[in-house]
Amino acid sequence: MHLLYAVLVLLSLSHGFDPNCPGRCSCDAVQSVQCYRLTEVPPGLPSTTKSLYISHSKIQHLQLSDFTGMLALEDFILLASGTESVENDTFKTLSNLKTLELWKNKLRLVPTALPASLEVLKLSDNSISVLHGSDFEGLEKLKILELKNNLISSLSPSMLSSLVSLQSLMLDGNNIESVAGPLALPHLKHMSLENNKLHLIPASFFTCLQSLQFLSLSGNFLTKIPMNLPKSLLSLKMERNQLKVVRFRDMKHLENLSHLYLSENSLSSIDGAQLLANLTTLELSQNRLQILPLRLPARLQKLDISNNLIQRVTAQDFQDLRELKHLFLDNNIVSLFEAGALQRCSQLSNLALEQNLLLSIPLKLPETLARLDLKGNAIQGIAERELKDLKQLQVLNLRNNKISALDLKALEGLPRLRHLYLDGNPWNCTCSLLKAREVLKAKGTDVRGGQCAAPAERQGESWMSSKKIMRQCEHHLHLTEKNKETKKKSKPEEHSSSRINMEDDDYDYEID
Ligand SMILES: *[C@@H]1O[C@H](CO)[C@@H](O)[C@H](O)[C@H]1NC(C)=O
Ligand SMILES: *[C@@H]1O[C@H](CO)[C@@H](O)[C@H](O)[C@H]1NC(C)=O
Ligand SMILES: *[C@@H]1O[C@H](CO)[C@@H](O)[C@H](O)[C@H]1NC(C)=O
Ligand SMILES: *[C@@H]1O[C@H](CO)[C@@H](O)[C@H](O)[C@H]1NC(C)=O
Repeated sequence: MHLLYAVLVLLSLSHGFDPNCPGRCSCDAVQSVQCYRLTEVPPGLPSTTKSLYISHSKIQHLQLSDFTGMLALEDFILLASGTESVENDTFKTLSNLKTLELWKNKLRLVPTALPASLEVLKLSDNSISVLHGSDFEGLEKLKILELKNNLISSLSPSMLSSLVSLQSLMLDGNNIESVAGPLALPHLKHMSLENNKLHLIPASFFTCLQSLQFLSLSGNFLTKIPMNLPKSLLSLKMERNQLKVVRFRDMKHLENLSHLYLSENSLSSIDGAQLLANLTTLELSQNRLQILPLRLPARLQKLDISNNLIQRVTAQDFQDLRELKHLFLDNNIVSLFEAGALQRCSQLSNLALEQNLLLSIPLKLPETLARLDLKGNAIQGIAERELKDLKQLQVLNLRNNKISALDLKALEGLPRLRHLYLDGNPWNCTCSLLKAREVLKAKGTDVRGGQCAAPAERQGESWMSSKKIMRQCEHHLHLTEKNKETKKKSKPEEHSSSRINMEDDDYDYEID
């Protein structure tokens, strides 16, 4: 017993006071050292150290002598430490170094003579303005290169020609105005050039990127989708550019392209996307579309055309989209929605039509809908025939419309309804509206009811919780003992419903 105790004490001592572990650092058994608030790379680290992590320190300069003898080092991470320069050849002899991360510092140059063992190099958030051909010389094992948020202004093949194994290249947030090709990176899968200053990408740029799958060019000044995009592409992001037209003919070789993001451009029409047969996601939000895209690909599952100038939705627009699950048409000026326009979309579960000019709930919506958002239209009433088939509907948002009365039958036909938003409507708080309230409560639907606009004496009362109206309507409702009980229990709900009313709309869909 005593012996065991002594052993335990010894063990805990040796762990807590490791004589080899420098101050402000913690060391663990797998030769990994983590340090904070240092002013230099800790001297005298054991030569067996494999991983050294330093952050939030002040180490202006790194030098060769900082790493003498540390030949086992595989990962060196120094971030947010104000480092401005690295002595020539500092990392040269670290022949086991696989990961070098120096992000969030003040480097103006890529460190010289990096070891050939390197697989990951992260230099994002520095002040590097030029890349030289010699910077990456010999790095034939490098897979990941991150240079986001630096000051690089151009990119040419000679800078990256050694990187034959590179899989991921991140150059977002630089000042890149020009790129030249062909970039010969046969294994590159991910490339991101978001938020640069590109006006044009030469057709030769992509010709030797035969493995590229994910490409982002969002946030530039491009007026055209680049020519000769690699056939291997799965996802193309071109958001926040200056596209006026998209020529799908020039993209039809992209047979595996499944995601295309074109939001925040200046597109006024889209035609011929069916050439991208495998496209499943198409985003066109915040453009200038006045009519729905013609000839969309049949495999589409998500279509976002929110924030455009669409006026009409007709059956012809959606007749081939049988796999569509999510349709965003919110923030347009839709006033005409043909009955049954979406009936061929037999998998549609999410329909966003908020902030349009609809006067009524569209007829013959697909029975598969789980969410229907009609907030901010000019809908005047709810009719049974509009909602009766929506057996899967879980969320219905009718906030900020012009509805004054509820049809009880319309609501009884929605067996799965869990969330109903009715606030912001000019409710006429008759006792029959109160009956609707009882029906909804009995179904267990979470309702945001809003306030009465009429009759005058009930104005401003919250009709889902007002005790005053409840009292006045009591004889009307023929309350059973059971209902009276729920009425008593509903007292705290008064608070919760007034709190909920203040919640932002963004919370509407935080429900599965
Ligand atoms: C460091 O190396 C670069 C080229 O790799 C060279 O131009 C520069 O003169 C060297 N600096 C010193 C101090 O040796
Ligand atoms: C498209 O995807 C299939 C299946 O993943 C693959 O076999 C084919 O090589 C891809 N086509 C191109 C051009 O990359
Ligand atoms: C679509 O994808 C499948 C499998 O990913 C692939 O076999 C086919 O070639 C692709 N292209 C077209 C046009 O269907
Ligand atoms: C409210 O409903 C009552 C009863 O149906 C009706 O007489 C009254 O005119 C309605 N008030 C308004 C403002 O619509």
